[in-house]
Amino acid sequence: MSKLSVPHLLGIKPLTTEDIHLILNTTSQFKDVLNRPIKKVPSLRDVTIANLFFENSTRTKLSFELAEKRLGADVINFSASGSSVKKGETLIDTVNNILAMKVDMVVMRHASAGAANFLAKHVNSIIVNAGDGAHEHPTQALLDAYSIQEKLGTVEGKKILIVGDILHSRVALSNIFCLKKLGAEVAVCGPLNLIPRHITTLGVQVFLDFNKALAWCDVANMLRIQSERQHITYFPSLREYQMFYGLDAKRLQTLNKEIVIMHPGPINRGVEISSDLADGPHSIILNQVENGVAVRMAVLFLLATRHDA
Ligand code: CP
Repeated sequence: MSKLSVPHLLGIKPLTTEDIHLILNTTSQFKDVLNRPIKKVPSLRDVTIANLFFENSTRTKLSFELAEKRLGADVINFSASGSSVKKGETLIDTVNNILAMKVDMVVMRHASAGAANFLAKHVNSIIVNAGDGAHEHPTQALLDAYSIQEKLGTVEGKKILIVGDILHSRVALSNIFCLKKLGAEVAVCGPLNLIPRHITTLGVQVFLDFNKALAWCDVANMLRIQSERQHITYFPSLREYQMFYGLDAKRLQTLNKEIVIMHPGPINRGVEISSDLADGPHSIILNQVENGVAVRMAVLFLLATRHDA
């Protein structure tokens, strides 16, 4: 059986295309498990995993916890609020104290870009990045790629559009790395001041006109405005943003084709996407969430068993 080329999941950038295919193929096996009446397997029965969330999360936190429990792992959960981080304890001290309790793997979300890489260098544990600042969100990109593959049969050759606040989005960066490695054509669209200046060096196309971008794409992945990472005002009002970059039924009707609509969540309904489209037949938003559990089972399983014979 194939093994991952990396000891941690810190981002999509360090993964090979073979790693990504291995994760997606393993995801299909775990998705079969999750569709059975008994949704649990004992694959990680002797493994203890700590979920460290230093930043807010609904989907990723619950999805990792469920994935770990479905694999039979022991799970402990940590959130920064109410912990001794508030008393000045460093990240390394916090994690080493948790690891002293015989923890085998750490899943971490942190507001600082590079926090997962930093941890992997300084503690003796398997590290899974659950989102680090505006850097990477690898399991989101993997579940997005899996969901596109499930819906369209393949990612290769598909035209994937990522719309919105590209500048502050870890989802955008991880998606670009993942989709390009899988052979997709990728474009971004949004206000010019929310598009990183050198983004074309990653092999992506830039659209400023949302209607032209929609006419080009097979899939539109709508991103939230990441206001928690914006320290200046990037556009005059949310209403103006919605007018130029919001996806609604009226805009979609001008296209003479169907597109797949995605969103990593959380959604700001009526801003980047209207409710009728978010809940409509072309949306795979809840499929993304469903697939997230199987993707995370695959990642945790492949990392935990990497040294097994
Ligand atoms: N998509 C995503 O990361 O959602 P959460 O912030 O709720 O985990």
